[in-house]
Amino acid sequence: MSGRLASEYPAWKKLQQIYDSEHGKLVLRDLFAQDPQRFSKFSREFTSPDDANVTFLLDFSKNLITEPILGTLLDLVREAQVEEYREKMFSGEHINTSEDRSVLHVALRNFDEFKINEAGVDEVSKVLAHMKEFTEAVRSGAWKGYTGKTINTIVNIGIGGSDLGPVMVTEALKPYSKRDLKAHFVSNIDGTHLAETLLECDPETTLFIIASKTFTTQETITNAESARDWFLKAAKDKAHVAKHFVALSTNTKAVTAFGISEANMFQFWDWVGGRYSLWSAIGLSIALVIGYDNFEKLLKGAHGMDKHFRTAPLEKNLPVLLAVLGIWYNDFYGSQTHALLPYDQYLHKFADYFQQGDMESNGKSITKGGQRVNYQTGPIIWGAAGTNGQHSFYQLVHQGTKLIPADFIAPATTHNPIANSKHHRILLSNYFAQPEALAFGKTEEEVRKELGPTASDPLVKSKIFEGNRPSNSIIFPLLTPGTLGALIALYEHKIFTQGVVWGINSFDQMGVELGKLLAKNILKQLDKPEDVTGHDSSTTGLIHYYQKWRKE
Ligand code: F6P
Repeated sequence: MSGRLASEYPAWKKLQQIYDSEHGKLVLRDLFAQDPQRFSKFSREFTSPDDANVTFLLDFSKNLITEPILGTLLDLVREAQVEEYREKMFSGEHINTSEDRSVLHVALRNFDEFKINEAGVDEVSKVLAHMKEFTEAVRSGAWKGYTGKTINTIVNIGIGGSDLGPVMVTEALKPYSKRDLKAHFVSNIDGTHLAETLLECDPETTLFIIASKTFTTQETITNAESARDWFLKAAKDKAHVAKHFVALSTNTKAVTAFGISEANMFQFWDWVGGRYSLWSAIGLSIALVIGYDNFEKLLKGAHGMDKHFRTAPLEKNLPVLLAVLGIWYNDFYGSQTHALLPYDQYLHKFADYFQQGDMESNGKSITKGGQRVNYQTGPIIWGAAGTNGQHSFYQLVHQGTKLIPADFIAPATTHNPIANSKHHRILLSNYFAQPEALAFGKTEEEVRKELGPTASDPLVKSKIFEGNRPSNSIIFPLLTPGTLGALIALYEHKIFTQGVVWGINSFDQMGVELGKLLAKNILKQLDKPEDVTGHDSSTTGLIHYYQKWRKE
């Protein structure tokens, strides 16, 4: 079972040997020149078994791999028993060992297809039905505020997984949104976030959605209490809270203690990880914005990817392919980061979302067996929507000293074909050009030819692009709810596969606890300088400086 050190697998050792002896010879220009079939060998199409319109192409030919390297990477997946582990996940075994929990976001979008043994799984459809009913009541105007007006604004209060998924998806699927229902997302404990949002809200027509798996998260509960105070200042009577506050949580006791009745609570279960929760009741804001039917399409798109991940042979399995390519750069080439670069403005939050999805999952250095790893685990995930990135950080990606693998993601068709799709053609010409430039670069010879014989050496050198910088390209017909669902699930399963190979637990997040604990202690000491005790001189000095200058 996983939990072993990845570096002990024979395939890992073989990969190290291959890297040591061959990496200098892996030149994309040559690999493409030598093999006219390279694109067809190293690209795969995904089509959902449930919906032919949920489809995309993954081209991974611009990677520093050969067929034997890919074969060895897949051997690594076999040796790490990813397939067995995948079955454990789908069947509800408690693979989150440190918290003794199953990991069942796949059960939230299962529509009773896979048989899963876990308490709560049989309640999924009931919660979905509740979400549907509520969504339709709000969107149709049947749900009234305390003065009888219809709801025209929703404010989701949550943080981390209780915020990032809904933010990313509602942005991505804006073309499907109800334009006269404004949606805000408040996450930061910084009062500015709530205060600025409330300036745009009317208590008579605003619905607050308090999204918190635990219902104990300091940021969310504090923001929710302040929102309730703001609301009651206008509404006066606590009984009106019922019309304006709903909760998404696993913690019924805390929800009712806050003053939200069970009838206005949308339940989920401890086997839904925060960063995998947009498919659960946490997706209520998504359903409100795009409508329940579109929310269901999102779930079905993800389910199609689940089936693919569960059944496709490894060499055709898209999440597995993305995972092993990531491992190749992360663990053998020493890449520290991975960029997600969507050429679609609607996906401008995609990298932010997978920052949590990937880094909170695989940012671990201890195996499940308790050993310190002697290799790199999860990469730093970052990125921005194209073409904006081209005018900020791409310089370093093209000519800097670091190898930065990147995924380029784009729709063939835009939702906004303005100027006869001129914008989209320009956008896509950049989407095609950037991976090409990264892979093939520009040689000294080409630069000299371009600049002529009088060009100085330093100028020539500065214009050389070494190339050989790897990337994946993903292209799909149109960004629809189903396609987005499949894309998100693609990356979720990539993260799962990598975590199993690295032998770590991708489903806890112990690393966020220490800071929370220290902040709690410091909060009690902030009033008086004489209370500041038990810290190093730096922390003490910083708190004293704050105490000297604060005004409130
Ligand atoms: O950042 C830690 C974390 O526990 C995340 O995993 C989670 O998504 C977030 O806090 C919010 O937690 P909750 O939904 O319980 O408020």
